[in-house]
Amino acid sequence: MDTRPETAAPSGEMDRIDDGLFDIDSGHTRRRTFAIISHPDAGKTTLTEKLLFESGAIRLAGQVKERGERRRTRSDWMDIEQKRGISITSSVMTFEYDGLVLNLLDTPGHADFSEDTYRTLTAVDSAIMVIDAAKGIEAQTRKLFEVCRLRDIPIITFVNKIDREGRDPLEILDEIMSALALDVAPVTWPMGMGTDFRGIVTLNEDGPVTLTRNTKARSEHPGLQDFIDDEKLRADPVFGPSIEGLEIARMSLPAFDLDSYREGHMTPVIFGSAMREVGVRDLLEAICRFAPSPLPQPALPKPIPPAMPEVTGFVLKVQANMDPNHRDRIAFVRLTSGVFKRGMKLRNVRTGKDMKVTSPMFFFARDRAIADEAVAGDIVGIPNHGTLSVGDTLTETSNYTVTGIPSFAPELIRRVRLPDSMKTKQLAKALNDLAEEGVVQVFRPVIGSAWLVGVVGALQLEVLVSRLQSEYGVEVALEMSAFDTARWVDADDPAELDRFVKANQGDLAKDRGDRPVFLARNSWELSYAQKNYPNVVFSTTKERA
Ligand code: G4P
Repeated sequence: MDTRPETAAPSGEMDRIDDGLFDIDSGHTRRRTFAIISHPDAGKTTLTEKLLFESGAIRLAGQVKERGERRRTRSDWMDIEQKRGISITSSVMTFEYDGLVLNLLDTPGHADFSEDTYRTLTAVDSAIMVIDAAKGIEAQTRKLFEVCRLRDIPIITFVNKIDREGRDPLEILDEIMSALALDVAPVTWPMGMGTDFRGIVTLNEDGPVTLTRNTKARSEHPGLQDFIDDEKLRADPVFGPSIEGLEIARMSLPAFDLDSYREGHMTPVIFGSAMREVGVRDLLEAICRFAPSPLPQPALPKPIPPAMPEVTGFVLKVQANMDPNHRDRIAFVRLTSGVFKRGMKLRNVRTGKDMKVTSPMFFFARDRAIADEAVAGDIVGIPNHGTLSVGDTLTETSNYTVTGIPSFAPELIRRVRLPDSMKTKQLAKALNDLAEEGVVQVFRPVIGSAWLVGVVGALQLEVLVSRLQSEYGVEVALEMSAFDTARWVDADDPAELDRFVKANQGDLAKDRGDRPVFLARNSWELSYAQKNYPNVVFSTTKERA
């Protein structure tokens, strides 16, 4: 048991929402499960590496990349990653800091490859937003921020690369406030930038403050006011203006408010340099002190409190063929309650089938290890042969169904042409596998035999063709289809849905779960159908249940 006092309010009050029945700490209050959101090149990889380094999880800087390189060489489809210099796979890294267990979920950063990223964000309790000090809020950051806002995920901001010429810190704070409608509360402040960079000062209002220039150059000052009033510093051409900026920030910005942060209204801001390991410890400390421990998980018939004794969890990602030699398939399961123990039997609520989980895994910075015990907030990898799909809920006995894990309507629909008809069976299996992983969505038209595949971003199409070839030996060509968009259709009155389905056979397909999907050639056709069938619901997202 952790006897360390919680530095921030624990989520105990949240745990009691379920009729006050569950306020047992199974260890989950020591978990912080988070992701990093950023625009490519802002420094996410460097920061991840430095977080692991600072916490002692890796010894030598450079290992995150090394690991990436090694993994890439194992599988052909990851060539695309290498060529484009982007990261496609999303994984999890668990490490410890200050007595807490931190689970960092990696989100692919490329604008094109968004569905996986969105889903990852449904499995975290908070996020770190990394911004390049010279570029400010960029397109992909804004997009990912909007996803976080849908669930009011609390965000800590890391303004990176302050060792390079960047914008004025006040201007950056102003941009965060106006572009994202967030209150800001700086936790550190830079003294100079670029060649003038003299370090960051911690804005600790009661107690000594530290000025850190790099891993070696660190000095302590008795208090923030002493630092600000230091005449020698104020006379300095670099420190002087920086201290003035800091004074303006102190006067004009509200003090940090934990509740406001937890509600997603305020972001603490850390100025730093991942490369120079400046601000990284401040970030780790902010995660430990501010970020919430696991929150109740939205589910039907009611939310799941993390302190509920029964084990529950959901599949946020399935990754097949991590090692092509073994054809393994790993479902990444976020635990939402209870104390999971190796060997436990869990029920897949979707299929009603029980499975004994004999080899669950934890993922660390460099290795995987057998997970003997895990609690809410932890991510365990469960090897399986296709029994687990993205969005599946696992429970010991009850019939909770986790909600809020979206499947997005595809923005690009292609017809799959198979030149070698002898491979029809392999194609069906491969498409099914890849759809289960969430790489593509697969639709079977009611009329006609060619498969249709739908994706949210064009890069997914390249990944699909490449993986079909390298992992399943199936060569396909993707052709333009007549359809432009897709909507899941449903109606309260089954007769109404039936009428719609019968009248639109040529534009209908079934998804993997046999749910009817309306395919429209253009937006006009879609609105025409909507107007003619006002009682039919056309959905852009399908809750995976
Ligand atoms: P990403 O994962 O967000 O795409 O970014 P990544 O960490 O790969 O960083 C992108 C580039 O920015 C890298 O340079 C990296 O070294 C640099 N960088 C990251 N943090 C800082 C920082 O605090 N200060 C400065 N000055 N640069 C930083 P690169 O030239 O593309 O790669 P590399 O050859 O340095 O590895």
